[in-house]
Amino acid sequence: MARKPIKKTKKTTKKKAAVPQLQGFRFGSKGREPVRLKKTPSRAKKTGKAFQESQGRKMGSFSLLRGMKDVLPEEQKYWDLVRDKVEKLGSIYGFGKIETPILEETALFRRAVGEDTDIITKEMFSFKDQGGDEVCLRPEATASVVRAYIEHGMLNRSQPQKFWYLGPMFRRDRPQAGRQRQFNQFGFEAIGAGDSVIDAQLIILFYKICEELKMDVTVQINSIGCLECRPAYKKALVDYLKVKKNFLCDDCKNRLGKNPLRILDCKNRECQKMMEEAPQIVDFLCEDCKGHFIKVLECLDECAIPYNLNSKLVRGLDYYTKTVFEIWPLFDEQKEDQLGTQGEENEKGVSTNETNMTNKTNNKDGESVASKVDPSNLALGGGGRYDGLAEILGAREETPAAGFAVGIERMILVLKKQEVKISGSKKADIFLAQLGDQAKKISLKLFEDLRKGNIKTAENFSKDGLKSQLEQADKLGVKYTLIIGQKEILDRTIIIRDMESGVQEVVDFDKAVEEVKKRLK
Ligand code: HAM
Repeated sequence: MARKPIKKTKKTTKKKAAVPQLQGFRFGSKGREPVRLKKTPSRAKKTGKAFQESQGRKMGSFSLLRGMKDVLPEEQKYWDLVRDKVEKLGSIYGFGKIETPILEETALFRRAVGEDTDIITKEMFSFKDQGGDEVCLRPEATASVVRAYIEHGMLNRSQPQKFWYLGPMFRRDRPQAGRQRQFNQFGFEAIGAGDSVIDAQLIILFYKICEELKMDVTVQINSIGCLECRPAYKKALVDYLKVKKNFLCDDCKNRLGKNPLRILDCKNRECQKMMEEAPQIVDFLCEDCKGHFIKVLECLDECAIPYNLNSKLVRGLDYYTKTVFEIWPLFDEQKEDQLGTQGEENEKGVSTNETNMTNKTNNKDGESVASKVDPSNLALGGGGRYDGLAEILGAREETPAAGFAVGIERMILVLKKQEVKISGSKKADIFLAQLGDQAKKISLKLFEDLRKGNIKTAENFSKDGLKSQLEQADKLGVKYTLIIGQKEILDRTIIIRDMESGVQEVVDFDKAVEEVKKRLK
């Protein structure tokens, strides 16, 4: 039913209330316009331009630093949704929340993430503090969680210790869609257990979070072996690439000596072409790593989690051993056509087939998921096993561990692209409109009573006119508006206006909450 139009209200001539004069001002002949007296009171505050001038400097406005983002109120529903799911599933799967500082010793990440990684060589927000200590804004949280695990002697507790976290990370990357300099991650870490079932459960948990968020995703998985078997693979890879060195990009020429595995997932198309015939790490895995990997895949099969074996997946942090995985968003062809690449750089820089994702496709319905991958999209998150990290960071004993982290901004980007329906915060049940100073005061108190009565009430106490308040109530789509003015105060009544029909009823003010509740039932 169409809402009844809001009638223009007659302007009532109000008796002007006596307004106390401010010190140093008198009211001019036009009434309310204050005229400054000659002598400015010495304690009067200088504001705005006058203040700037008095400071002898010209000040412009401020804007965000490059790669940073404000999260405005209208975005919060996405954040709340992700946070709620992470918290809920974290608790179900037995993970406890951990919070570590944003500021850490730079050396922690240098040692954990690896001296030759992009994160350490190019992306650290690192500086000397006033005390001369080399500190940084954390680029990730795994190293911090492992530091906390060691520092608090958690090795002596029952193993594994399972943690989840959520918070801002910092990388001085080139900003673009889905890549910021301050971004947020949630992550899960299971420290103190080497069983392959842990790797599988982490992947399942990651997949279930996406499933609960109604996101269409694919799991990419690989094993990069351990310190025993990886050197033989590295050698084979370097031998294979040596003769092709001139065709590699400058970064990869550099990587050939320092970090050859990263050439596997280089974005450059020429490099990717060179890698088509490259030796595959699975052929070099030792018995332990091979057995571990097969068991992880068997667990995933058991739980019907679809995955793609991706021999080019190596991850960008040095601490990984054995299993590595990522989750990528999927879009159906129709959506892909509509969305296009939208100017986003492909993190992989290569098409589905080029990333060799079609080696194995396992899908509950038996259909090929690889064919649906939108190559223009970035990984939602990734992780893997990091059996050597605790020892690298000073643990006295071998402490196997695994985990993953997810970029929340990227997740929200995908939620929006996949048009996942999100219910916003509950809209107001009623609007409380007031006319005049006295009514304003009474409304303030009534608002509290309505809140106590669990009635979600919208208001705009800074507005005086009834028309504008009714217009706002109409926009908010509330069922009823309570109206209180001078007459109602005298009669101790209140008007309840049905916004659908425009019908207004006068009820006893003391029964307002009760009457509203009756109507909202
Ligand atoms: P990562 O792959 O470096 O892994 O980051 C995980 C996720 O964080 C990425 O997949 C992405 O969604 C998000 N992310 C990374 N950089 C940016 C950026 N500049 N802007 C926006 N989002 C970004 C780690 O951080 C590991 N600590 C994961 C892990 C946990 N491994 C074991 N446990």
